[in-house]
Amino acid sequence: MRKKIVAGNWKMNLSLEEAKTLGDGLKAEMDQNKELFVDGAGSNTPEVVIFPPYVYLTGMIDLFKHHDGVSVGAQNCHHEESGAFTGEVAASMIRSVGASHVIIGHSERRSQFGEGDKLLAEKLKLALKNDLTPVYCCGEQLPEREAGQHFQVVADQLEQGVLWMEKDQAERVVIAYEPVWAIGTGKTASPDQAQEMHAHIRKLIRDSYGEQVAENISILYGGSCNAKNAGELFANPDVDGGLIGGASLKVEDFFTIIKRRKENG
Ligand code: PGA
Repeated sequence: MRKKIVAGNWKMNLSLEEAKTLGDGLKAEMDQNKELFVDGAGSNTPEVVIFPPYVYLTGMIDLFKHHDGVSVGAQNCHHEESGAFTGEVAASMIRSVGASHVIIGHSERRSQFGEGDKLLAEKLKLALKNDLTPVYCCGEQLPEREAGQHFQVVADQLEQGVLWMEKDQAERVVIAYEPVWAIGTGKTASPDQAQEMHAHIRKLIRDSYGEQVAENISILYGGSCNAKNAGELFANPDVDGGLIGGASLKVEDFFTIIKRRKENG
């Protein structure tokens, strides 16, 4: 059975003090609602993953180290193993501090840092080699949707990013569908738009790797997902959770989203 996941992408936000307050707040909510999130809470218990900036990774890993329900990941990694890349961080380093996940191919990395599919495939290889769970992002721009090209754009991104992998690698990837026009804009994909794209993505996985991998792979929705709309998005059979930006910076909103995931089975 595939994992239900609620992931918080903090992006380049928060001072150290603010990050601690957010982490402490989330931990307190999880602790006060233990019956929902510890072993025995049922197969619909969502995995929670937070993605703080690199400099807060170890602090958050320490904070949640005795907490089964919360994992910590990095927002990016470099596409080489190591070397003279001033300012960059390698997948092996992320793993060595105890992080479990890494976001790869976020649209902000694609558009602002010129990261293309070939480079992203290198990052994916290194993430898997270092035992990290990659959260691979895909999604179309507004003009592409308006031109009716969104299914093809996402198919191309998956083709380059994931579908070249061996089956045992592909099944370790989490996919996040994030329509670029919905990210940070307050404009969310409708539940129907999300469901039809997620079903399309699952079909592409099925065509390449068969039913079992398709059924087991988690596909998250991202793009202005918030405490209000999370429930109707998660009610769709192919929407396995969310990659949450803005709303992950507020304990109450993020925790409400986690509860919506749990309620929707
Ligand atoms: P948003 O960001 O929830 O603020 O739209 C989502 C993301 O970029 O992952």
